[in-house]
Amino acid sequence: MRMYDLIEKKKEGFPLSTQEIRWMIDGYTRELIPDYQMSAMLMAICFCGMNEQETYDLTLAMRDSGKIMDLSGIRGIKADKHSTGGVGDKTTLILAPLVASLGVPVAKMSGRGLGHTGGTIDKLECFPGFQTALTMEEFTENVNTIGIAIAGQTAELAPADKKLYALRDVTATVSQLSLIASSIMSKKLACGSDAVVLDVKTGNGAFMKKEEDAVALAKEMVRIGTMAGKKMAAVVTDMSQPLGNMVGNSLEVMEAIEALKGNGPKDLMEDVYTLGQYMLLLSGCAEDTDEAKDKLKNAIDTGKAIDKLAELVEAQGGSREFAYEPARLAVAEKKIAVTAKEDGYISRMDTAEIGTACMVLGGGRETKQSVIDLSVGIELKKKTGSSVRRGDTLAYLYTNDDKKGADAKRIVECAYHYSTDMPSKTDTIRGVITE
Ligand code: URA
Repeated sequence: MRMYDLIEKKKEGFPLSTQEIRWMIDGYTRELIPDYQMSAMLMAICFCGMNEQETYDLTLAMRDSGKIMDLSGIRGIKADKHSTGGVGDKTTLILAPLVASLGVPVAKMSGRGLGHTGGTIDKLECFPGFQTALTMEEFTENVNTIGIAIAGQTAELAPADKKLYALRDVTATVSQLSLIASSIMSKKLACGSDAVVLDVKTGNGAFMKKEEDAVALAKEMVRIGTMAGKKMAAVVTDMSQPLGNMVGNSLEVMEAIEALKGNGPKDLMEDVYTLGQYMLLLSGCAEDTDEAKDKLKNAIDTGKAIDKLAELVEAQGGSREFAYEPARLAVAEKKIAVTAKEDGYISRMDTAEIGTACMVLGGGRETKQSVIDLSVGIELKKKTGSSVRRGDTLAYLYTNDDKKGADAKRIVECAYHYSTDMPSKTDTIRGVITE
């Protein structure tokens, strides 16, 4: 086989065979196919697309390019969730202990934040001593003993995707549906869980800005996972404003703890309950969504959910008291108020800009190597639909650096937009896609 011929074939609009896709991904992973030829292929895929079989073949070829987690030593139907990424998205911190407290084994691999979106691993490291690099034995042992483990995703999982994603990033070929779906699903399949619930975000803070694109991506990923023998569901959720009221690592952990104690904001809890319902349904812990919701609420009301977070923190090297006393988490001392410039309503928010402001404060990575400050962030006092008077506090910025604080303040000021009429409400949950 020659890469030149495969590029030509795709450029002419013909589908690639399973063997051709496997050969190409294997060759690229082993550096037998150069970046310039793979770039041409990616661009041809952007123009000509991939059919369902090709997208599935690409997913499995990338899954098989590295290690596949063997979770067979863990009893029960293992459930995983994945978010396509957003601002203020701390749902994993809440959902994972919540469903684990109801008997669903959670064996989760998570990533770090990059750009304007945060990552669960950074947030967990806000608990002093928390270890995210676990051996396979520790990981399995923890899930079997306390029902939950969350570890950092290793480079051994789907290395082809890692290489391809870096190439897509610099060749303007990220935003192609088959490439996104196969990228996400190759990693989810390599992680080995039996049931996967996807949170596909839509809106100006998300990858998929348009709802119809988010729905199409959700359907494609559910289809791929189902074909690969997984139990699948996807929830399309709003990211036209940050989720909850806290953005930034420690602040988000605090909000997650409050949510586990029953004090979570409405939009965040809608997201948590809907995703949680499907995690319970797919893993056989509930017969229907009503029963699932009752169980989730009960786990919060009785304190089972927060106790499970405390167990997780302790099992991975932290101190359980932090789960009960969030005020002990490190938060930057300087607090800057951002105030309303006009009377009226907040008509919309530039969500990605709020994420960027958090990055400017030092709370997010510009490059994979950046060192982040877990203690900085933004507390939103007003969101879309809030009525405001000039001078009202819209948000507080928590910073350790006056210059960064001033830069972030300008960004947050510009991220708020005003109207004289009350804007129409947007639903947090836009749709659910099941097999
Ligand atoms: N997240 C991924 O892992 N891959 C993509 O292609 C897009 C988002």
